[in-house]
Amino acid sequence: MLDRPRRLRRTTALRDLCAETRIAPESLVQPHFVIASDAAEQPIDALPGIARMGVERLLRQVEADLEIGVHNVLLFGVTAQKDQAGRSGEDPNSPAHRAVHALKSRFGDDLCIAADVCLCTYTDHGHCGLLHDGEVDNDSSLPRLAAQAVSLAEAGADLIAPSDMMDGRVRAIRDALDLAGFEGRSIMSYAAKYASSFYGPFRIAADSAPKNAGPRDRKSYQMDFRNRKEAVREALLDQHEGADILMVKPALAYLDVIRDVSLAVDRPVAAYLVSGEYAALELLAREGLGNRADLVREHLTAVRRAGADILITYHARAALANRWL
Ligand code: PBG
Repeated sequence: MLDRPRRLRRTTALRDLCAETRIAPESLVQPHFVIASDAAEQPIDALPGIARMGVERLLRQVEADLEIGVHNVLLFGVTAQKDQAGRSGEDPNSPAHRAVHALKSRFGDDLCIAADVCLCTYTDHGHCGLLHDGEVDNDSSLPRLAAQAVSLAEAGADLIAPSDMMDGRVRAIRDALDLAGFEGRSIMSYAAKYASSFYGPFRIAADSAPKNAGPRDRKSYQMDFRNRKEAVREALLDQHEGADILMVKPALAYLDVIRDVSLAVDRPVAAYLVSGEYAALELLAREGLGNRADLVREHLTAVRRAGADILITYHARAALANRWL
């Protein structure tokens, strides 16, 4: 036999030498849920090991995380102040804005801060856009999303991350940022975001599920998971509208999509290993059905192998703290 693939699998050192895929610590992003009460820490049952934090508590957490090499965060505000138009999403005193500002003031450019832009946590109906005659209205949502983006840039966000899936929002946000003098701030768009059942734990954590009024689900704006070409269309559209980083979400059930998008665009691709994917691994590990480190390593590596440059994962801290990568 001339060709024996097993030769390069003989020792750990050989396998490490020849590994095709590696994950740089700098490519990991840790999501955080921020609440109003400064010192508070509220564990989230649906996301074992993750807690909502007030700004003071978050500052301490991020400081500790920086020490172990977590240099990127994605922030979600959680608030009880909701109305039809999601106005608290533009309030400089909202938990998200205060957190962005406090983190930027404390850590400067040692920390890269991405801020989620969406209406679902701020509207009383929990939809990602405004309601009109019982439907989620695209165009009237754009000014609200753009205003929220500008307010988060003013607070100091490095990356503006729109997750609403309204058509044309990247362009609206880019124009508004430029007009406000933030032409140097980047947009990381949730370009191919699917209507997924894997967001369940997040909606509990962020109190952002659709309720009270409007459609019962998000299928009229998030993508249909039967579609693959459409993800490339969405990614190219966002790229054309000025997005700097294109995101695919969820990740593990969408590796083909990550691959397609990474080949189609000419800028970095992010993949979001979402709350339900995180919880699934945690539950497997807790039930003794798999080793946590091995499960996380395999999951993250698969997403990186598919073509993602940036990995947004609730496991970022644990992966770096425990040297799982
Ligand atoms: C808000 C938003 C969601 C997630 C990120 N931004 C939930 C949703 O669309 O309902 C999900 C993240 C996760 O599940 O970890 N639009």
